[in-house]
Amino acid sequence: MKLTPAQRAQFERDGYLFFPGHFSAEETKVLTDAVPALYSRREAFNVREKGSDAVRTNFAAHLISEPFARLARHPRMVGPVMDLFEEEVYMHQFKINGKMAFEGDVWQWHQDYGTWLNDDLMPTERAMNVAIFLDDVSEFNGPLMFIPGSHRKGVIEAQHDLTTTSYPLWTIDHALIRQLVDRAGGKHGGMVAPKSPAGSMILFHSCLVHASGSNLSPFNRVAVYLSLCAVSNHIRRFKRPEYIAHRDFTPIALLPDDCLLKPYPVETPWKDGLPESALRTSLENIDTVAA
Ligand code: SIN
Ligand code: MN
Repeated sequence: MKLTPAQRAQFERDGYLFFPGHFSAEETKVLTDAVPALYSRREAFNVREKGSDAVRTNFAAHLISEPFARLARHPRMVGPVMDLFEEEVYMHQFKINGKMAFEGDVWQWHQDYGTWLNDDLMPTERAMNVAIFLDDVSEFNGPLMFIPGSHRKGVIEAQHDLTTTSYPLWTIDHALIRQLVDRAGGKHGGMVAPKSPAGSMILFHSCLVHASGSNLSPFNRVAVYLSLCAVSNHIRRFKRPEYIAHRDFTPIALLPDDCLLKPYPVETPWKDGLPESALRTSLENIDTVAA
């Protein structure tokens, strides 16, 4: 799948592209049905909300569950990213965020590239976030919010927040968020929160500032977040475990467009549990190791 010149221009300007109903109800159901089996497992790859058993985020489902392994190779998801980067991509991170009814906690204001740079030593911003919503997203269930155009600021200073939620994040202080929202139009377009039927997809720049509130509604807001990195831009440090920041830089090989509906063979090497290697971390720079 290729982007039109208008879509490219919009991405440059706003830092995101919204594709409502990109996956059909039938395709989305294949994914949604696979979530409970993943979330029920007592493994490091399930991070639960602070003080609750609800899953906040699940990592590496593309190495554990066949439907998600197929999604990770879907041309309708990977195609536009390869087109924008004009390069092959590998999977840097794969999350299924729960944002469960009544329990889903906030994601503070942040840029993803801040974490990839600070923790993983990813050289440049040539990595893309793809959000695919498995539930309808409304104003009630903690929609994802963006500050349009904020990606053009590049990497913004951030603090490592280890306490607000159960998951550490490099977050941006409120004075700077106020400034960015003002510059983007304040009350008139300075923030957006696309309302999305299940199956919608959003591509967003790795420097786009985003957040989401808690989910006090009785509706889950399960969403898959795939982070695709240009192969030449692979991470240079393995400070975070492999199930969070992947170390296999092999370009993604695409499956046919009907891959969510037909059982094309895919490998799920971590289906019986994480190997010990996936938990190991190191502070060495891998360029140094190779030298
Ligand atoms: C994220 O920024 O990784 C998650 C945001 C969300 O799920 O709302
Ligand atoms: Mn994020």
